[in-house]
Amino acid sequence: MKHLVLISSSVREGRMSDRTALFLKGYAEKRERVSAEILDLKAYGFPFFTERLAFQRNPSPELLDFTERFVRADGVIVVSPVYNASYPAALKNVIDVYVREWVRKPVGVVSVSSGKTPGIATIQQLQALLLKLGAWVVPAMYTVTQVETSFDPEERPAVREQAEAYADPLLDGLSEFMECASAPERKE
Ligand SMILES: Cc1cc2nc3c(=O)[nH]c(=O)nc-3n(C[C@H](O)[C@H](O)[C@H](O)COP(=O)(O)O)c2cc1C
Repeated sequence: MKHLVLISSSVREGRMSDRTALFLKGYAEKRERVSAEILDLKAYGFPFFTERLAFQRNPSPELLDFTERFVRADGVIVVSPVYNASYPAALKNVIDVYVREWVRKPVGVVSVSSGKTPGIATIQQLQALLLKLGAWVVPAMYTVTQVETSFDPEERPAVREQAEAYADPLLDGLSEFMECASAPERKE
């Protein structure tokens, strides 16, 4: 069974994008045979970046725990809040820690905003960054708008069928990339 990690990346008091991460975890597990877990950057509380993991002499137990979960994931979903048409510093803070670990990692990107405009710029900035790192970035996007009314605090989308239909292309793309990543190499 494939294993998914969702990075919930708002560390803000009163945040709302974690609702989408919770919904996606449950929906991904319901839809197909995958297990999923959320890595919550607020719970990890990482200090400001000082160096990449490979060059750290004494990585913290929190960072080692995060790394173990991240590395063993077959696929990653980055759930990013839209901040000034971009993504939060807490997310860049953890993305930069890894180098080799991103290579060939299937990744899908989700944006969550309170406004009416879909956070496409946020997703494209993250996709460019992750492509630079060598991740296998799923082209499909899932953008959540008006999160305060489209999701309740228990992760329930206001219109479940609609939320699931919007999330499907991203989850389909991720499944396909996970299959490719785990396929044995073709010998000519
Ligand atoms: C610093 C900051 C900048 C923001 N910029 C935007 C924005 O450009 N467009 C938008 O629709 N919402 C914007 N928002 C609102 C967030 O998208 C909103 O809080 C949403 O719930 C996702 O973030 P959260 O998980 O931290 O709550 C911004 C919020 C903050 C804190």
